[in-house]
Amino acid sequence: MDYNEKIKTKIEQLKNKEDFLILAIETSCDETAAAVTRGRKVLSNIISSQIDIHKRFGGVVPEIASRNHILAIDNVIEEALISAGVQLKDISAVAVTYGAGLLGALLVGVSYAKALSYALELPLIGVNHIKGHVFANFIDSDKLKFPFLCLLASGGHTEILKVNGYFDTQALGKTTDDAAGEAFDKVARVLGLPYPGGPEIEKYAQKGQNNIFMPRAYKGESHLNFSYSGLKTAVINYVHNSKARGQTINPYDVACSFQTEAVGALIDNAIRAAKRENMPCIALAGGVAANTALREGLKAAAEREGIEVFLPSKKLCTDNAAMIGVAAHFAVKEGKGGEDLYFDANAALE
Ligand SMILES: Nc1ncnc2c1ncn2[C@@H]1O[C@H](COP(=O)(O)OP(=O)(O)OP(=O)(O)O)[C@@H](O)[C@H]1O
Ligand SMILES: [Mg+2]
Repeated sequence: MDYNEKIKTKIEQLKNKEDFLILAIETSCDETAAAVTRGRKVLSNIISSQIDIHKRFGGVVPEIASRNHILAIDNVIEEALISAGVQLKDISAVAVTYGAGLLGALLVGVSYAKALSYALELPLIGVNHIKGHVFANFIDSDKLKFPFLCLLASGGHTEILKVNGYFDTQALGKTTDDAAGEAFDKVARVLGLPYPGGPEIEKYAQKGQNNIFMPRAYKGESHLNFSYSGLKTAVINYVHNSKARGQTINPYDVACSFQTEAVGALIDNAIRAAKRENMPCIALAGGVAANTALREGLKAAAEREGIEVFLPSKKLCTDNAAMIGVAAHFAVKEGKGGEDLYFDANAALE
């Protein structure tokens, strides 16, 4: 039997099994991550962040990210296996993020996963990074069932998705320009705060008041799209105009006013979508889902409407490999076969 035939047989066996181990790898941006998962359970979840390396540049430098993934990946995978208390011989499949993301960064994880899969004759499951964020909601939870509504807000995406299954997701609304996380990062930069801006804005917002007018895009319109570019520009104009007039700004109030509006738009659209689609629950996903104002605001608004909210733990909102392993498990269950040796990274994956 050649490699492809062996993989086909193995993946058929896995489709009928609940209890198999996946080694998952994620290197799409600036986190080198590996995890061992079993179904919805996470046995280990190791993340080596490059934030401190990229901070001095004010954002992720792709070439530097790729080089650091190469330096970190061996140790991160070894640590994931040790921390799960397993060895490579116990693993039944390898899962890897193959897009979207930075091409050079993705290639490190994809090449590593392909080599591992070929050498050990293990099925290789390519996972879409965004599906990983969405499927983080299944981790350690037996309660979440298809179909559900997902509010995804990350560094590159802002969408409301109806999730019917791994291979059946429908976008009900999305950003027409900047992503929510991107707006947090850009506003932080205007305020002189370090990268990544989201957690910094959150800290500043806690010390400020919501007392500066911020515009709402698409106010009164019936669609469920978002736009963050006008909000970002409003903050930039406020800061620049104040400085031009010689007035000092209160960065805590700017952060609080911006965050209130950024989070408010997400919550309002998610609640409207759930009511329109008659969905009993909303799951939150992506890096911005780590924001406490969003988590608490969505919970409170949903409660008033009798809608249940699923919140992954904060560590599972930002990039990690556990979400990739759990998403891969669902993909196998829905009939995804193993990748062949022509499998490649796709930076612009939809
Ligand atoms: N507490 C927080 N409040 C607001 N934003 C946050 C918080 N924590 C992280 N973020 C934002 O989340 C983003 C990172 O999320 P994530 O890692 O999911 O994005 P990404 O992987 O770069 O993009 P994508 O997943 O769309 O490809 C950054 O923009 C960051 O500022
Ligand atoms: Mg991400």
